[in-house]
Amino acid sequence: MTSTVITNIGELVTNDPAGPDLLGTVEGAALVVEGSRVAWTGPAAAAPAADEQVDAGGRAVVPGFVDSHSHLVFAGDRSAEFAARMAGESYAAGGIRTTVAATRAASDELLTSHVAGLVAEMRRQGTTTVEIKSGYGLTVHDEARSLAVAAQFTEETTYLGAHVVPDGTTPEEYVALVTGPMLDACAPHARWVDAFCETGAFDADQSRAVLTAGMAAGLRGRLHANQLGPGPGVALACELGLTAVDHCTFLTDTDVAALADSGTVATLLPGVEFSTRQPYPDARRLLDAGVRVALASDCNPGSCFTSSIPFCVALAVREMGMTPAEALHAVTVGGAAALGREDVGALTPGKRADLALLDAPSYVHLAYRPGVPLVAATWLAGRPI
Ligand code: NIG
Ligand code: FE
Repeated sequence: MTSTVITNIGELVTNDPAGPDLLGTVEGAALVVEGSRVAWTGPAAAAPAADEQVDAGGRAVVPGFVDSHSHLVFAGDRSAEFAARMAGESYAAGGIRTTVAATRAASDELLTSHVAGLVAEMRRQGTTTVEIKSGYGLTVHDEARSLAVAAQFTEETTYLGAHVVPDGTTPEEYVALVTGPMLDACAPHARWVDAFCETGAFDADQSRAVLTAGMAAGLRGRLHANQLGPGPGVALACELGLTAVDHCTFLTDTDVAALADSGTVATLLPGVEFSTRQPYPDARRLLDAGVRVALASDCNPGSCFTSSIPFCVALAVREMGMTPAEALHAVTVGGAAALGREDVGALTPGKRADLALLDAPSYVHLAYRPGVPLVAATWLAGRPI
């Protein structure tokens, strides 16, 4: 097995919980990769010999970002909807149907090449693990093929047949489809089941039916909740013991306490509030209550069309009360927890050697230099890509 030492790392973020700070930071560090895994980290002067050597030139190295929430399988363009919003229109879940029509009309090849382009865009910005949802097909055939496309790019695939009730069907008929024949067709391609629990989409009983049917079919549960207003979704996610509940923009004190007690990860998606001009979720309140917090992109054509985790970090620091260290933790360890993953999100021995080399002396620059392409190289499973 080939070993590689990355030496002369100005600042290495390991996320070692036994480290001196939240991020297990090592100054003047080296990191040894063997095959696809991290074998050693520590002061450069003490690094063991390796077959190959890479000089980081004093720059920072951080764990590859774990983006636990995206909707990359779609066709069409909604930039006019964004422009209208910036001119004063408000965001409503109904815009999803526009993308559904374009996605149904697209070939598998077009959808695949579109996802490939977006995943490449993410990789260039340091993302090494990405979750991808269906949800723009909303027929048995189109949801199953959306997941088959997603599965070509990640093992973290999520069945989101319950994104919105499509035209021409009643909510009752559609929930029966999502929990029946559509689930049967989609479960072989999916690891997760999700629903959009929101006014204009699915209520608590409908979301519960979708989640429990999916979990009975062997999928793990996650939920979109409390995005557009207060609602029952966060309480439902905690009650069902879901791995993660995403958005969490409008929370009551009871919701926050339930999150802290349950261990369900609260995934915040600040690109959405940026792109919809809604209030940002209060990350400080959640962290101070002991809630586990992740940050993710929610890359989708409607509410937030960014693929950039560094942009989300900058928003979380500037607008949501997170320190740069807490925000980086949330896009690495937090994202991994939101996907129930132990093998990614940290650079300690045994973890997958997924990392980003930054054109900066410190990870703080991710928030300090917003909009600047700071990722000089992304390594996936021990190799630069
Ligand atoms: O996560 N919340 C539901 N789904 C997406 C938005 C989808 C759309 O507008 O197309 C979201 O924000
Ligand atoms: Fe989403």
